[in-house]
Amino acid sequence: MLVRDITEVRRRDRALITKDATIREIHHRVKNNLQTVAALLRLQARRVSMPEARVALEESVRRVASIALVHETLSMSSDEAVEFDGIVDRVASAATEVAATESTVGMRRKGSFGVLPAEIATSLVMVLNELLLNAVEHGFPPPDAEVDQTATATGPVDAPQVVVSAHRFRKQLHVSVSDNGRGLPAEFDAERGGRLGLQIVRALVTGELRGTIELRDGAAGGTEAVLVVPLSRANDRLTA
Ligand SMILES: Nc1ncnc2c1ncn2[C@@H]1O[C@H](COP(=O)(O)OP(=O)(O)OP(=O)(O)O)[C@@H](O)[C@H]1O
Ligand SMILES: [Mg+2]
Repeated sequence: MLVRDITEVRRRDRALITKDATIREIHHRVKNNLQTVAALLRLQARRVSMPEARVALEESVRRVASIALVHETLSMSSDEAVEFDGIVDRVASAATEVAATESTVGMRRKGSFGVLPAEIATSLVMVLNELLLNAVEHGFPPPDAEVDQTATATGPVDAPQVVVSAHRFRKQLHVSVSDNGRGLPAEFDAERGGRLGLQIVRALVTGELRGTIELRDGAAGGTEAVLVVPLSRANDRLTA
């Protein structure tokens, strides 16, 4: 009797280990597939001559690559959760590479995201990718860029800097992305304004993440995006 019990326990143990390995393997393959998609888009971007089309394709490359990062991390973890700080730091340093300013944009992370469940991590990495790219692209436009009539006349005086801060409070994750750039355009509509980037952000934040997002002028100039995401199980999409 006892022998059979132990055998059963061992069998279940093994089954669990196999399941774990399978899930990790799937994440690994998803990551590889996403990298292939990114590579295909990059190839296509090199072939098109229209500058606008090229920029759009390059943006897609970054979007797909940021999701691949999460799956890569998931493929190395033993459960469906990820240590998010490392992911943010990688997405942030990738964003600085697109900076068009002469002086490099400084990136800093304040506080910690901690360990996040996979569902939250996948959406959040896309949201942060968009906010970081916006801060770098629009906060610190290249000197020769077409001057936005509505933007503040004075350019950035301090060294360009983007700060991502995160802390947990009452089962909520509070995140902000702030830059000391030239600020939002005067006619910017905080509720509806924006093109694809902010549409992705709003759709993910209110849909998948069930949180809130606010874009406003920073206290000391520049722009600040404030994000609140519930972490409690009660807000999971089980009821959706
Ligand atoms: N950090 C920021 N500083 C200044 N302006 C910003 C900032 N973030 C957003 N904006 C303004 O909001 C607009 C909309 O942003 P959104 O990300 O939706 O579109 P986009 O960046 O122009 O294009 P894309 O779809 O490629 O992201 C920007 O064009 C810019 O004028
Ligand atoms: Mg954008």
